[in-house]
Amino acid sequence: MSVITCVAPVNIAVIKYWGKRNEELILPLNDSISATLNVEYMRAKTTVMASPTFKENKIWLNGKEESFENPRLQHCMKELKQRARKNTDVVNWNIHVCSENNFPTAAGLASSAAGYACFVYAIAQLYGVEGDITAIARRGSGSACRSIYGGWVQWHVGKSDDGSDSFATQIAGVSHWPEMRILTLVVNSSRKKCSSTDGMRRSIATSSLLKYRVDHVVKDRVEGIIRAIKEKDFKAFAEITMKDSNQFHAICSDTYPPLSYVNEVSRRIIELIHAYNELRGTTKVAYTFDAGPNACLYLLEEDVPEVVALIQYVFPSDTERVEYFKGLPINPGSLSDELK
Ligand code: DP6
Repeated sequence: MSVITCVAPVNIAVIKYWGKRNEELILPLNDSISATLNVEYMRAKTTVMASPTFKENKIWLNGKEESFENPRLQHCMKELKQRARKNTDVVNWNIHVCSENNFPTAAGLASSAAGYACFVYAIAQLYGVEGDITAIARRGSGSACRSIYGGWVQWHVGKSDDGSDSFATQIAGVSHWPEMRILTLVVNSSRKKCSSTDGMRRSIATSSLLKYRVDHVVKDRVEGIIRAIKEKDFKAFAEITMKDSNQFHAICSDTYPPLSYVNEVSRRIIELIHAYNELRGTTKVAYTFDAGPNACLYLLEEDVPEVVALIQYVFPSDTERVEYFKGLPINPGSLSDELK
């Protein structure tokens, strides 16, 4: 019997991935960029056991057994087996996988990203896979490829039809911008109505704004935000982050029938952040929303106490469904440093 346990954190995109050019291979329409959170906060933890006595492969997610026949799982397994160290028996044994998240699953908080990154990393360790595994994690869930690395990460769109050049790389490590913090405001922790996968499919079929974004907007934003991260220019970073989140949700509205992931509380958070930035005379905080109403705020450490106080004042937790992730502030952390 061979056993391994790994942890992988979620990542929060500042340039969004929305839309695939190849569904089966999970090849995106554009580059995307994110920061990976500290592994202690929002993370998936996965234990993989392999044994010659196991009769079949099995997987439990948050205590509930799921099908191992899931095509995305199967794609990851196939690629991991192809890349396994040649002289290992473990590859021929069946496995039992237990994975749990310490935060709400499928609530637009990048749970699949952490889950698949963890799954692929753990099995890669078990099979002795060497080299880049981000393209394998991508086969599980596109955004998962970015959770393989800590710090600031770019998922490259790639040009090839086989997906071999669509992988993730680190732009900068955690220590590059140590003052950066992320606050996650959980507005609603229930499952989203339309999954990212289905939402993207519908946007591709119906949104002309999505096409405009891919052809005319994202490239400049990617260049601009990489420059802002490298130069630690918070104002430029924050403005691109907010604009990209807003454009993503505009595409959701432009989709037919429309996708509405943000809600009234999310919109109040957006207004509050703009009012706060105006009051402070410069851009101090950036918001971003994935496929759900929960806000992620990027800000610098020195501004955390004031912003937390403001949020608590405007959204007292007994009257509004805004919670704070336990243990905030959250520091973009490193996966590779902290994997066990
Ligand atoms: C809005 O990676 O969950 O969070 O590849 O279909 O599994 P699939 O989608 P997924 O989509 C994430 C979309 C997003 C933006 C982002 O993280 O870049």
